[in-house]
Amino acid sequence: MSGAPPDGSRPGGASVLDDLRELGRRDPGDMLGEVAGAGGQARVALRAAQAAPLVGPLPEVVVVAGMGGSGIAGDVLAALAFGVSSVPVLAVKGDRLPAFVGPGTLLLAVSYSGNTAETLTAVEQGLAAGARLVAVTSGGALAELAQSRGAPLVAVEGGRMPRAALWSLVVPVCSAAEAVGVLPPLTDEVCAAADALDEEAAALGPAVETAANPAKQAALRLLDRLPVVWGSGPIGAVAASRFRTQCNENAKVSVVSGPLPEANHNDVMGLEGGLGPGRELVLLRDEVGEHDRDGRRIQAVLKAIGAGDPVVRTAGKGPGLARLARLTAFADFASTYLGIGRGVDPTPIRTLDQVKAALATESGAPR
Ligand code: F6R
Repeated sequence: MSGAPPDGSRPGGASVLDDLRELGRRDPGDMLGEVAGAGGQARVALRAAQAAPLVGPLPEVVVVAGMGGSGIAGDVLAALAFGVSSVPVLAVKGDRLPAFVGPGTLLLAVSYSGNTAETLTAVEQGLAAGARLVAVTSGGALAELAQSRGAPLVAVEGGRMPRAALWSLVVPVCSAAEAVGVLPPLTDEVCAAADALDEEAAALGPAVETAANPAKQAALRLLDRLPVVWGSGPIGAVAASRFRTQCNENAKVSVVSGPLPEANHNDVMGLEGGLGPGRELVLLRDEVGEHDRDGRRIQAVLKAIGAGDPVVRTAGKGPGLARLARLTAFADFASTYLGIGRGVDPTPIRTLDQVKAALATESGAPR
């Protein structure tokens, strides 16, 4: 890739992103189609969650165990619960659960494949400690474990890459929290999120040319740069993390991300002297979720590092899930265009698969 400014002449430039045939050729797994279908996915997931036997009582604490593209559902739930839940919600990413997990814990286990080693080990620990389990998965060992224990299971549609199943996973996880009184009634909020995803797909999808498409513009700005992604408010913070992991997996690039205002207290020092030619700042703002002073904090930090023109996307108005949907749609489209612009196939994740395979062989276990 050249370091030239984004224009139609460079290999990953607007000419590629605006050529539908070329997009199809460079995206054989149709990650763009998966992203565009997120609204429909959310509606199907709502029906699956409503059909599942999810009921109370209110737990003492909710723990969501999951990794990677599944684990982010726990971050989403924690962000939504932040302003409304009377009990703590914790997302755990790893084999071990905190010592407080016990009979008063609702353990939401989320693994798209149902075969992720860390998640399964955490579930075993939770069950041994007497936690109440709800499983969200498309199958695998997690589905078997839930069924053998008589635990509620939300079976989500299979056949996707886990990160492309975000809404299949987020909706049941949030529905399980709603069923026990941790979140307020959710149906309207999920429908609003699904509508927002459809609207974003219409605005950011492949048929919209670069000149009018902020996700394509962002991808071109990020070509050959290290993206530094900051998100404001609990929902913006989740979106920043999603932007990072989507760029990792769809575009195969490293990204730095963090929440605001925390980034003002550390990350900002990495930008002392300015962004320079090698970095690009991305701000994902959820103004509804910001503290009154966050707007001034953001202006102050932009001035201090001389970042006059960052990539900015705002979450708009409406319920939390709809605001999140606008930001994740931007992250999902921009990261996929970035991969295509870089000339990498967005869908496969060979190195990640290689690591999982090596560990499965080592332990002799299928996971
Ligand atoms: C792949 C992806 C990964 C997986 C992770 C855990 O698209 O997003 O981050 O989500 O390796 O696997 P699952 O989701 O099957 O538990």
